[in-house]
This record gives sequence, structure tokens and C-alpha cells, in this order.
Amino acid sequence: MKHFLNIRDISKSDLRKIIIDAKKRKKKRLKLNILEIDSDNPLKGKLLIQMFEKSSTRTRLSFYLAIRQLGGGALTLRPDELHLAKGESLPDTAKILSTFGNAFMLRTDSDSKLREFKKYMSIPIINGLSPTSHPTQVLSDIFTIEEIKKKSISKLEICWIGDSNNNVINSLIEASVKFGFKLNIGCPENYKPKKELLNWAKKNNSKIKVYNESFKAAKGCDVIFTDKVVSMNDKVNKNKKLKDFKKFQVNSKVMSYAKKNAIFLHCLPRGKEVSNEVFLSQQSKVWQQAENRIYVQKSILLYCFEKLR
Ligand code: CP
Ligand code: NVA
Repeated sequence: MKHFLNIRDISKSDLRKIIIDAKKRKKKRLKLNILEIDSDNPLKGKLLIQMFEKSSTRTRLSFYLAIRQLGGGALTLRPDELHLAKGESLPDTAKILSTFGNAFMLRTDSDSKLREFKKYMSIPIINGLSPTSHPTQVLSDIFTIEEIKKKSISKLEICWIGDSNNNVINSLIEASVKFGFKLNIGCPENYKPKKELLNWAKKNNSKIKVYNESFKAAKGCDVIFTDKVVSMNDKVNKNKKLKDFKKFQVNSKVMSYAKKNAIFLHCLPRGKEVSNEVFLSQQSKVWQQAENRIYVQKSILLYCFEKLR
């Protein structure tokens, strides 16, 4: 049994195995309906319990479909339906979830809650987004980039423009170390990645550059990423933060600094950090990016169940 909490905890070879498995499985399903089960039925009879302490559209649907396509089933819980919210202890709840379910996916507003659940669970736990990490999203985005560019991400230059101290960029930084790709970050001075994370990346031979102008970061890149300026976990003055990012919108001018065939990615949902023009352009691959969540979640589940071939 394996947990999936942060990209940095997982070995390079396991991360690569997940991507390879997702590619094979996606190809094999071309003629299948959405609820038909993969021919090898690898998680037959298994139950994934998923719980969301925050809103979710894509993660919720993709994990549901992922476990169904692998032959299992999903139960989605809201925290207010459990006694946990009303005083039952986390260790007792973890014991019960481990008795009734075979894997637990949690989207939470607390990183320490994930660690606590991990401590008390005897089934795999998957981080479906926490304040500091969104590992399933980023691994899926690497899959999408390689699918579109048809080469290893280690040969590409990736750019992130926007809030650079949030869950998605944290996981992207960790991924840049694990997969060895160049990462340019463009953000206002006060919204740079956390020092601890950059130091960890540096120690592990990262190829990260941080700029305080979006054009400089975008120059010559193959992929331009952004994310909402105000994340679900942000306890900030929203108007001030939005104002601070006025010069960091991904628009056609920013895209013109990237390579001609550069693609635009966004985990969604979106705000004003990307212009409508870029979002709806040929370069934008956001719908393919969202769909791929299903395939990569499946291989993440198989990794957790130690069933990756
Ligand atoms: N990108 C993402 O995680 O989407 P949801 O918040 O809709 O799950
Ligand atoms: N950074 C965003 C990602 C949403 C999928 C948030 O945490 O709200």
C-alpha cells in the first residue's frame, strides 16, 4: 500500500511509471463508454471513499470515473455528514474509513489533517488538494504536456505566471525537480515561492528561475501555466491581491513572448488571470487537460494499490 500526498515524497521512477500506465490505459479505452470497465478490471470490488472539505468539480468527477473504470466504486462524503465535524476523533474516524473503504481521497483545508489521517489509516490516502499541495493535478498536467508535445518534459521549458505561493505551483516546483524540467516563474515580488521550497529545489539540482515580469518568464517557453490569483484557501484582502496581479494576466502579448507553438494550461476554475482571448485560443489546451485527470487518477490509484505493471 502506498500513499499519494506530495510529489516530493514519490520516487522519480514511480512518477514516470504512473505516466506510462496512464498513457497505455487511455489508448486502450478509445472505443469504450465512460462507465465501461478496463479489460483487466484491476480494482474489482474496491471502494474509494472521497471527502471534500472544499468545492470541487474536476477532482470529484475524475476520481469517481477513475475508480469505476478500474472496476471499483466510489462513495463521496461531505464533512458535515460525519461525526468528525461534531467531535468524533480523527483516529476513530480513520479507523472506520479504513474498515469500510479500500482507499481514501481527501480535499482539505489543512495539511496537518492529511498527515494525521495518514498516521491512523491502514488504507492508502490521496491528497486531492490541500493548502500547500495539489499533486494529482500537476502529475496529470505533465501527462498532458507530454501527450501534446510528444516529448519528455525534461526537454521542454515550462513557465508559470501568477500567484507563486499556492498549492499548484508548489507541486509544479516539486515536479520540476523530479522530472528535471526548466521552470520559469513570473510573479510580483511579494508572491514568490516559499524560500524553504526553493532551497529544497536548489539542493536537488532544480532549473528554476524567478522573474518579476511576466514577459521575461514567458520568453521562449513551450508551456504557459497560470492559476487563480485568489485560491480557495487564501485568507487575504482579495481586492488588494487582485490589484497586485494586474500586470500578470496571461494575454496575447504575454503568449507572443513564448514559442510560436506554445500551449496554455490552467487547472481551472479560472478568474481574470487569463484573458478570454487566450483561454479560448487554439493554444489553450485546458479541456484536454481537464479530461486527462481521469486517466492519471486511475494510474495514481493503481500506484496506491501497488498494482502498477
Ligand atoms: N483543478 C481542479 O482541481 O478542479 P476542481 O477544484 O474542480 O476539482
Ligand atoms: N489554487 C487553486 C486551485 C484550484 C483547483 C485553489 O486552491 O483554489
